Amino acid sequence: MMKKTKIVRITDVERDRESLNEAGRIIRAGGLVVFPTETVYGIGANGLDGDACRSIYTAKGRPSDNPLILTVPDKKGVMQVARELPPLAEALLDRFWPGPLTVIFPRRPNVPDAATGGLDTVALRCPDHAVARAFLRSAGVPVAGPSANLSGRPSPTTAAEAAHDMEGRVDMIIDGGPCHIGVESTIVECTDERTVTILRPGGVTAAMLGEVAERVLVDTALSGTAGVPKAPGMKYRHYAPAAAMIVYVGSGEAVAAAIAAQRRETAGKRIGYLVSSETAAVLPQENCYIWGNRGDKAALANQLYGGLLFFDSHPVDLILAEGVDEDGLGAAIMNRMGKAAGGHVVVL
Ligand code: TXA
Ligand code: MG
Repeated sequence: MMKKTKIVRITDVERDRESLNEAGRIIRAGGLVVFPTETVYGIGANGLDGDACRSIYTAKGRPSDNPLILTVPDKKGVMQVARELPPLAEALLDRFWPGPLTVIFPRRPNVPDAATGGLDTVALRCPDHAVARAFLRSAGVPVAGPSANLSGRPSPTTAAEAAHDMEGRVDMIIDGGPCHIGVESTIVECTDERTVTILRPGGVTAAMLGEVAERVLVDTALSGTAGVPKAPGMKYRHYAPAAAMIVYVGSGEAVAAAIAAQRRETAGKRIGYLVSSETAAVLPQENCYIWGNRGDKAALANQLYGGLLFFDSHPVDLILAEGVDEDGLGAAIMNRMGKAAGGHVVVL
């Protein structure tokens, strides 16, 4: 069923109060509102209303065993839906909230199965974005907020990208400008009193988590070697562009040489490039998306999904991409790039 989608631009949470009030009313009435965060755009519904949560799955075309993150405006929101707040989890919230960190908690019974995919836990996040938090306060309930893309597509980092996937499927889209991080939050669970396990790498890095927890582990299933990922969404081939993709990681010369060799091998096919400005200098300009300067991980995180979506309007048969090493924010970037490329990452 097509919905009439109202698109509102919010730059000033005081001046645009009426639009925020309306967004809050839509949520409480069971409707859907796309909203900006510092990571990517989310699609919000009342996280305590099972029917509203189910309508998110319909709007996204998302498998219903994949649980939703609940988004709250501050730490006070946690005890509305979490059964307990262990000291380590509290230390994480004190250090990283608001910010790109999602923490898994044991859930209270008021959280519907539709939000958690039937799990006994609930994922909570507090975005570092003034418009997002004003919207959450206006809603007055925890807001289920997965990324605002159709299932399998890259997450939107601008309102226009979100509208491309969600117009006609939601009641309102709040345009709060481009997201400044560009990849989704880090998801962690507190495995014991001193151990944090990363279920999805993101804007809060392993080194940053190590400042709070004695031990930082990574879900072994993420490396693709063994087991089922603890964050159910990580098992899907997300973020996939229509074209095949190969990612190269190495020195500037090695990446340029590998791309040149692959071009000779695939002569006659349409090739697109998703590379640094330095590598772009030795490539054709056509179908070339420059993500930033070589090694600038913040720029690559910020431009990655926009770069993948560029190839919607510039169709090619093969995308040759330049990645980064896995230190710091590189872990999140290479996790997403690896998924986009179906695991086809070449370390030179
Ligand atoms: O940055 C973000 O986290 C963005 C913005 C919009 O807030 N949201 C986001 O949501 O990326 P989504 O739904 O696209 O990804 C949520 C991930 C999925 O992989 C899901 O499986 C996992 O979180 N997840 C949710 N609840 C969980 C739980 N109780 N236990 C383990 N994983 C969970
Ligand atoms: Mg998503």
